[in-house]
Amino acid sequence: MKVKDMSFKMGHEFKIRIKPKDDCATFAVNIGHDSDNIALHFNPRFDSCGDTNTIVCNSMSGGSWQDEHREFNFPFSQGEECKFYINFNDSEFYIKLPDGCMMNFPNRLGDVKYQHIEVTGDAKVIGFKIK
Ligand code: GAL
Repeated sequence: MKVKDMSFKMGHEFKIRIKPKDDCATFAVNIGHDSDNIALHFNPRFDSCGDTNTIVCNSMSGGSWQDEHREFNFPFSQGEECKFYINFNDSEFYIKLPDGCMMNFPNRLGDVKYQHIEVTGDAKVIGFKIK
């Protein structure tokens, strides 16, 4: 799912409700300028690329992935709807996970406005809001 005609700005909150499929292996939320320049790739992996129950975060610059961060708190379940929140400033992204725990990831592109917002993988977007 690609969000069209909307931008996500510093200080705003992106709220998303997602239902991972019953057999979900992985899904991702990408926030950036375009598909080659992604400031936040937020990628819960149930069982994908050798990871189980791990959140992998990364950024992409000019089509190249940068250094991955791994988070082992994994409050996602296959087939179960969940909601989480993302906000950011020019140096960090802050993600409030479905269990209420926070995690962060550096805003390596350093910008304060992104208009490429996309959800990929084995999950259905139930709803989202930017405010
Ligand atoms: C790759 C994977 C991509 C992305 C990237 C993040 O292994 O194929 O979808 O998750 O890792 O570093």
